[in-house]
Amino acid sequence: MSKELIRLSNCTMAFDGEVVLDGINLYINDKEFLTLLGPSGCGKTTTLRIIGGFQTPTSGDVFFDGVRINAVPPHKRAVNTVFQKYALFPHLNVYENIAFGLRLGKTDEKGKKVKLSEQEIHQRVMEMLEVVNLRGFEKRHISQLSGGQQQRVAIARALVNRPKVLLLDEPLGALDLKLRKDMQNELKRIQKAMEITFIYVTHDQEEALAMSDTVVVMDAGKIQQIGTPEDIYNEPKNAFVADFIGESNILDGIMRDDGVVEIFNRKFKCLDSGFEKDEPVDVVIRPEDVDIVPENEGQLKGTVTSVTFKGVHYDTIVDFYGFKWLIQTTDFCPVDSRIGIKIDPDGIHVMKKSHYSGMFGDYSSYSEEYEEISDASIDPEEEEQEGGNEE
Ligand SMILES: Nc1ncnc2c1ncn2[C@@H]1O[C@H](COP(=O)(O)OP(=O)(O)O)[C@@H](O)[C@H]1O
Ligand SMILES: [Mg+2]
Repeated sequence: MSKELIRLSNCTMAFDGEVVLDGINLYINDKEFLTLLGPSGCGKTTTLRIIGGFQTPTSGDVFFDGVRINAVPPHKRAVNTVFQKYALFPHLNVYENIAFGLRLGKTDEKGKKVKLSEQEIHQRVMEMLEVVNLRGFEKRHISQLSGGQQQRVAIARALVNRPKVLLLDEPLGALDLKLRKDMQNELKRIQKAMEITFIYVTHDQEEALAMSDTVVVMDAGKIQQIGTPEDIYNEPKNAFVADFIGESNILDGIMRDDGVVEIFNRKFKCLDSGFEKDEPVDVVIRPEDVDIVPENEGQLKGTVTSVTFKGVHYDTIVDFYGFKWLIQTTDFCPVDSRIGIKIDPDGIHVMKKSHYSGMFGDYSSYSEEYEEISDASIDPEEEEQEGGNEE
């Protein structure tokens, strides 16, 4: 997993002078599952299109196996793409959809087209049907398949040519939540079984955390952080990443010393170091890392303002000196009760101030934010269009 396969070096993309990708530096290892994650419009698809060869960066270089490939067209790259709209051939059955790429023939070392025998085509198509769990569906027409099955055909068709890399642009966006979770596991299994590199695009942070070896968090045409799912969740680089990945209370703090951060004029032990003495910082505290204790034992004391039962825990909003925190706890604390809280040193994460500081407030507007989270499965483009049509 450590061999570098693709590298983007200082890639910038501008459309009509407007910069949409700004100096992207990224390498992708062989057999890695790497996800580009970020809000709509941050440049994920553009990055994927540069890797696929559908777009040439305005400046910067793309390398494949150490060779600069800026000018190599898509069909000459060892890369294939699965789009959100599957683009299957409706007049062909499952077998012929998957066989399509093989019937075009393959290019040999001298660049000459070689036709595959029917026998070889059959063997490869059957292999792929096995991989995507669609044995027995060969004769079915595309219109007779569910959305999830169509997605499997699209994946089989993209993999049958044995690309080294598969690019997937929000491939599960059209599926409902339950099916999406199943397909996430399926995709992960297929990637492992085929031993190829997946570069996956999504705006869904849960999906990214669940599937990836490496997550690349993007915003406004820039990479904000690259790391394992655990890295970006536990050690977000800035307030944007902390806010985008999971739930978080983001607070102003002052680093008083190595291992000591001050929040609301109280000192808390933490594990962070290497900041200037008295440096203003952003502090992230995850809702599940806060312990509720009796008021007189608390490091901070506050008043419960809302409680929502979530099955596993209660989402409890607590007002500390006018700042509302989200706490996830199995202890039921009624609205208006006074509570204390304790936070272990490893429940506190200190970040450098950035231009995102102060942009993500507290949980005063929690209910609106909650609705936004539960709507995350809706395609933002569709949502925009719907909004635009409304009077
Ligand atoms: N062909 C294009 N011409 C002009 N602007 C484009 C083009 N493709 C993408 N953009 C712009 O680039 C930005 C990033 O787009 P995109 O990479 O599709 O974002 P994402 O996939 O993260 O939603 C957006 O502002 C989009 O409008
Ligand atoms: Mg996109």
